Amino acid sequence: MNNNVLHIENLTMQFGGVVAVDNFSMDINKGEIVALIGPNGAGKTTAFNAVTGVYMPTAGRVLLNGENITGLRPDQITLRGIARTFQNIRLFSSMTVFENVLTAHHLRRTSNLFSATFRLNAHEEKRMREDTEALLKQVDLYDLKDEMAVSLPYGKQRLLEIVRALASRPQLLLLDEPAAGMNPQETDDLGEFIKRIRSEFDLTVFIIEHHMNLVMKISDRIYVIEFGKQIAEGVPEEIQNNQDVIDAYLGGGDEL
Ligand SMILES: Nc1ncnc2c1ncn2[C@@H]1O[C@H](COP(=O)(O)OP(=O)(O)OP(=O)(O)O)[C@@H](O)[C@H]1O
Ligand SMILES: [Mg+2]
Repeated sequence: MNNNVLHIENLTMQFGGVVAVDNFSMDINKGEIVALIGPNGAGKTTAFNAVTGVYMPTAGRVLLNGENITGLRPDQITLRGIARTFQNIRLFSSMTVFENVLTAHHLRRTSNLFSATFRLNAHEEKRMREDTEALLKQVDLYDLKDEMAVSLPYGKQRLLEIVRALASRPQLLLLDEPAAGMNPQETDDLGEFIKRIRSEFDLTVFIIEHHMNLVMKISDRIYVIEFGKQIAEGVPEEIQNNQDVIDAYLGGGDEL
């Protein structure tokens, strides 16, 4: 399919005796929001790590726009247009909102924090500051630009992390449990925000999330894994009515 953005083919990721991802395949097309759900320990974050170059897959291939990116380093994968956020917030807590986003612009240019900080000429520096300002204005965080990241309300910290990922101008954005720890209002706002940035930044979105209301509301399609293996794939309504998914996951009465 020529509008395929991400193609994961027979991906396996093994840690010693643990097969965290087991012969998993999936496709994401341009402009889609696709969710990956499954119980704790199902292998979701490991799949992200294999896509973003954190781990070298034990077997299988990852293609971006038809090009094999398996085994590239994380910085090389960022340059090709994949950005991500992490399950646990990884902001520079002692930097301001502005500095967090500016640093991401720097890293995009050089992928090296030292040269990013010291080797830029004044012209480049000015342009990156302008890009940072424009991005913060576009996502309505400009008023908070001088706040320390650590002093923001939790929901805003999570948003800032997404905005920082946007600074690398990704075509594909990977979000690992962006609603974790958010209250219902923040979760609702996050859903709107994800849909909005998808259209404004021309993004394709791959999201891991346990908040089922959010997943069902924003996803075009959903993949479900258990013990590293796919147990279902489909549109939200199909997933909600899939007996295997209900047995494995949705029917458990647990917080999802
Ligand atoms: N670096 C590692 N070394 C060894 N085992 C690992 C490593 N990373 C993940 N695992 C194991 O792989 C399995 C899948 O973990 P993973 O973090 O991908 O699950 P998850 O679906 O993201 O779960 P959660 O919803 O709790 O975040 C788990 O059994 C985990 O202990
Ligand atoms: Mg995880």
